[in-house]
Amino acid sequence: MLRHLLDLLICPRCLPAEKPLRAEVRDLRGGEVHTATLECPKCRASYPVSDGLATVLPAGAPEDRYAASGRLAGYLWSHYADLAGDPDAHQAFPAWGALLAGAGGPALDAGCAVGRLAFELARQAELVVGVDRSAGFILAARTLARTGQLGYELISEGELFETRTVRLPADLPRARVEFLVADALAFPFPASLFGTTASLNLLDRVPLPRLHLAELDRVSRKTGATLLLADPWSWAEGPAEPEEWLGGRRSGPGAGASRENVRRLLERMGRPPWRMADSGRISWMIRHHRNHFERIHSDYLLARR
Ligand SMILES: C[S@@+](CC[C@H](N)C(=O)[O-])C[C@H]1O[C@@H](n2cnc3c(N)ncnc32)[C@H](O)[C@@H]1O
Repeated sequence: MLRHLLDLLICPRCLPAEKPLRAEVRDLRGGEVHTATLECPKCRASYPVSDGLATVLPAGAPEDRYAASGRLAGYLWSHYADLAGDPDAHQAFPAWGALLAGAGGPALDAGCAVGRLAFELARQAELVVGVDRSAGFILAARTLARTGQLGYELISEGELFETRTVRLPADLPRARVEFLVADALAFPFPASLFGTTASLNLLDRVPLPRLHLAELDRVSRKTGATLLLADPWSWAEGPAEPEEWLGGRRSGPGAGASRENVRRLLERMGRPPWRMADSGRISWMIRHHRNHFERIHSDYLLARR
């Protein structure tokens, strides 16, 4: 973990109180913390940094549903196939990155998976942090940040696989990018830290979508901040109870279209309120095998304050 993040992290279990973590560093290599224990002076919770990987979760173990079910290769393809000139690749990440062009840092990508948006933001922000509950995704993203490349086995059909390699552009300032195992419902960061915050395709995956919006609001700067939120609104009972959905319901607080409801929430519940700068739709794809792709449209809201 980048050493200067030590000065920024707070205890996710003590929120809404913001308690800076104390670090006992056992192995420091240049600007990187390799092994350490981060401890909260108030609740005494401790968080490990092991092989450079920091796990700063409010409770429970890292979520490895995505990586374990073979989705790691699928996400690596979805995030990076365009860089390798794959003719089937989608262009959603450069498009989301372009929406944030000129937005100030530091930048946070919530639910970053294997990290592409974070790298898209590296040229414009002095520090970019990606967080995800999946340790498998964060390990892959960290490998890319530290070495610039990562090989993986991509399903071709049936039992057949092909070897692919992700290679980041040589001139990308990837040393500014760090990835942590952390929760988008309890960010281990103090209020008003980030000039840019992004949440792509995460809002309909968390059990408490309103709390995720409140957390994005909390860690965003009060002024000079940009927030990009994109989601396909695939509400389902697995991730969140219907009472928690922010749209797609016939009645109650989640009645009507999610995009309008979320826009209203940001405008009304933001402290201070957000104003909409842009909205639209960007399509992306999940690859099942070489002849089977799933296309997803995500509405986006670009907000500033
Ligand atoms: C549908 S994927 C989207 C990933 C990426 N943003 C993209 O657009 O490709 C949702 C991601 O959110 C992560 N995730 C789910 N719940 C989370 C939470 N509470 N905190 C942080 N990450 C979470 C998952 O591990 C997964 O990587």
